Amino acid sequence: MSFPTTRLRRLRRNEVLRSFVQETRLSPKNFIYPLFVCPGSGVKREISSMPGNFHFSVDRVGEECKEVADLGIPAVLLFGIPEGKDERGSGADGDNCIVAQTVRAIRKAVGDKLLIACDVCLCEYTSHGHCGIVKDGEVDNDATLELLAKAAVSYARAGADIVAPSDMMDGRVRAIREALDNKSLTQVAILAYSAKYASVFYGPFREAADSAPQFGDRRSYQMDPANQREALREIALDIEEGADMVMVKPALPYLDVIAKARQEFNCPLAAYQVSGEYSMIVAASERGWIDRERAMMESLTAIRRAGADLILTYFAKDAARLLAC
Ligand code: PBG
Repeated sequence: MSFPTTRLRRLRRNEVLRSFVQETRLSPKNFIYPLFVCPGSGVKREISSMPGNFHFSVDRVGEECKEVADLGIPAVLLFGIPEGKDERGSGADGDNCIVAQTVRAIRKAVGDKLLIACDVCLCEYTSHGHCGIVKDGEVDNDATLELLAKAAVSYARAGADIVAPSDMMDGRVRAIREALDNKSLTQVAILAYSAKYASVFYGPFREAADSAPQFGDRRSYQMDPANQREALREIALDIEEGADMVMVKPALPYLDVIAKARQEFNCPLAAYQVSGEYSMIVAASERGWIDRERAMMESLTAIRRAGADLILTYFAKDAARLLAC
């Protein structure tokens, strides 16, 4: 049956009809809000490369999390900026590391109203800015695993619900799962950054986390943007190693990867709308070239439509406010 009997415009006539037949719906319940925590007290300082996002000191992060929870957003993802950096990234672990302190502060402020996820990586903590231990000018995979596992255990002990390894070392999900289980932290879930690409779109984040590599780049551990099949292998391996949820990152330039992963795997799938995706929209809207709200909603809807259950996004609060109207 075709035109004139069939007219697809019939169901686009007005807002009620359009909303009635909408295939993809956004909800704040799908969002995870990233937060950056820094040393000091009384700090809430805007990150210049990511307008609308802030560095919070531990004492200020609780109030922010109350707001996040009140908007109906179920989870935050923590990134820590340590007091000092060294070769080994020692600031990433220990019961008093900045992330462990933050987890306790958030729990005190909001109780169980928010899920607390912690990014597990060394790049914010190492003096060379790489995501692992450097030996002879190379990032040493196996030596890094133990440190990642230590960090994950520190965050879990402090009360994190979820740990999210973002380093792209081989075998880190298994190492982290084993370390958690050995410490009877069996209930803590792993959200693996499984298909994380070596992307230029992390640019603004590196200012936020002060984590730009001091030499070379991350292409010996993060994925080549040209590869899709390899992403599926990465995801399959992480699931085998014990990942509870998997992630594709960045999001909008990798919708094909999200769609494929959705088809092939049955565990919850997350996508990270990264700093560059966020800041490009914000910058263009500041110049009057694009409508900020519509670009935000269109990109988030596209990521959901491709198949992501969960979206890590710096727009979480703004989008939640808009969705509440
Ligand atoms: C840490 C990490 C990065 C991001 C999340 N975790 C930076 C990187 O790998 O260079 C990027 C997040 C963003 O750009 O919003 N490894």
